Amino acid sequence: MSKTDENLRIAFADESQTNIEYLAYAHKAMDEGLMEIAQLFREAAGAETVHALSHLQAMGVVRTTLENLEDASEGEDLDISSIYPKFIEEARSERREEAVKSFTMAFEREKHHRTMFRKALRRLK
Ligand SMILES: [Fe+2]
Ligand SMILES: [Fe+2]
Repeated sequence: MSKTDENLRIAFADESQTNIEYLAYAHKAMDEGLMEIAQLFREAAGAETVHALSHLQAMGVVRTTLENLEDASEGEDLDISSIYPKFIEEARSERREEAVKSFTMAFEREKHHRTMFRKALRRLK
């Protein structure tokens, strides 16, 4: 992997993460009645999405829809078969109940995503 490939991966991860953080900050500002600041966070979050999408394009990750469905199915499958079960178990052993709940909620939903992606893939083939 070249330096630029590595930098694109890092920048993409950072922009994506910042997008979600800003959305969460916007929710918090709204809870505190700070509507203008909430709007500021939402607008910046939108710009971070544009940056992330642009980096992703430069990474060449987006291919045909058939290939994207295959990639998405495999990604959801990895979450279901190894990542989330391990994370849930580790959070349980560290008595991190909120993390257990969050991982479990995502784990359950990924099953639905995998099913839907596989169905779409079969229809498209
Ligand atoms: Fe950005
Ligand atoms: Fe998912």
